[in-house]
Amino acid sequence: MQYLVAFTTLACLLTGALASPTETTQAKRATCTVNSVASAADLSDCTSVVITAFSVPSGETVTIKAASGASISMTGSVTFSKTTASGPLWTFDTSNANFNGNGYSFKGNGDLYWDGEGTSGGVTKPHPFIKFEGYGSFTDLIIKNSPAHAISVGTTSTSSFTNILVDNLDGASLGKNTDGFDVSASDLTISGCKVYNQDDCIAINSGSNIVFENNFCSGGHGISIGSIATGKTVSGVTISGNQVEESMYGMRIKVDSDATSASVSDVTYSGNTISTNDKYGFLVTQSYSADFGTPGTGSTISDINFTGSQTKITVSGSYPRVGVDCGHCSGTWNWAELVASGGESSDIILGGAKISGGSY
Ligand SMILES: *[C@@H]1O[C@H](CO)[C@@H](O)[C@H](O)[C@H]1NC(C)=O
Repeated sequence: MQYLVAFTTLACLLTGALASPTETTQAKRATCTVNSVASAADLSDCTSVVITAFSVPSGETVTIKAASGASISMTGSVTFSKTTASGPLWTFDTSNANFNGNGYSFKGNGDLYWDGEGTSGGVTKPHPFIKFEGYGSFTDLIIKNSPAHAISVGTTSTSSFTNILVDNLDGASLGKNTDGFDVSASDLTISGCKVYNQDDCIAINSGSNIVFENNFCSGGHGISIGSIATGKTVSGVTISGNQVEESMYGMRIKVDSDATSASVSDVTYSGNTISTNDKYGFLVTQSYSADFGTPGTGSTISDINFTGSQTKITVSGSYPRVGVDCGHCSGTWNWAELVASGGESSDIILGGAKISGGSY
């Protein structure tokens, strides 16, 4: 205790000496080390946070809430015991953080939960595994074997996610609902990330000004906008330069059939290479949770374009290459840079929209 008081006094003196007289000074710890659940409890005065290797025991969760502008880095991986806690098991609640995972992992031990039933049955699976609140830039991190949904993005200001690997390859037979990124946020870029999983690579549920570019998705359900529920809006999305392989679907816009006051607008696809082995290469539907059913009319989908560089979709299952199941869609959709092949012939119900160009 004595030591702590002495240290704090010294820190105040140093900070005071350097600060201009008009500034109110507050002691900042130079570097805070997170090496246990307890050590993460109060990081509010930490401008630099180092996360070392440690384990999170059952029943515990961690929230990293550092000082504004903090740099946060990892020097080891964090392992999560099979837990009774509900997700998120780890939250970054940051303001203007600069995070570098240095290639270390959050290990969810999903294999201890996976039973083929996902979040709708069987073993209770904490989800999401990792959540981002606040805002910042986040790079060079591995999410390994999430029990269910891997990353939830609920950032509140401009944020970027680069070089993040979601590796749920081990769930190929029993993993389910292992979404890569679930996004309800605006002003966001996700680029150069890789997702190996068994559900959506990304699912954008609400938000505007979102860029998803140069990412790689394998084994899952492709790049999704939605599912969109009542009152939710997605607008201004660019999906470019991504590669999707061995996927159930390629890219989808899915709006709940009963959604009202909901919309999806201004979505641009450019330069994507998509390969699906089961269902639609590209699907726009207002009849979700059906792929193609009786579409709702309480939502609007507008301005869905394939422009810029060519997007190439290859379908190898026996499903239509492209499906559009609109009850209420609008505008002229420029599909000049879409080439879809394989599968069965496309099934298009426009519900008020028009499509120009494209080969599908
Ligand atoms: C989509 O294409 C239509 C038709 O060319 C155009 O009017 C609209 O501005 C485009 N939307 C975007 C977001 O580029």
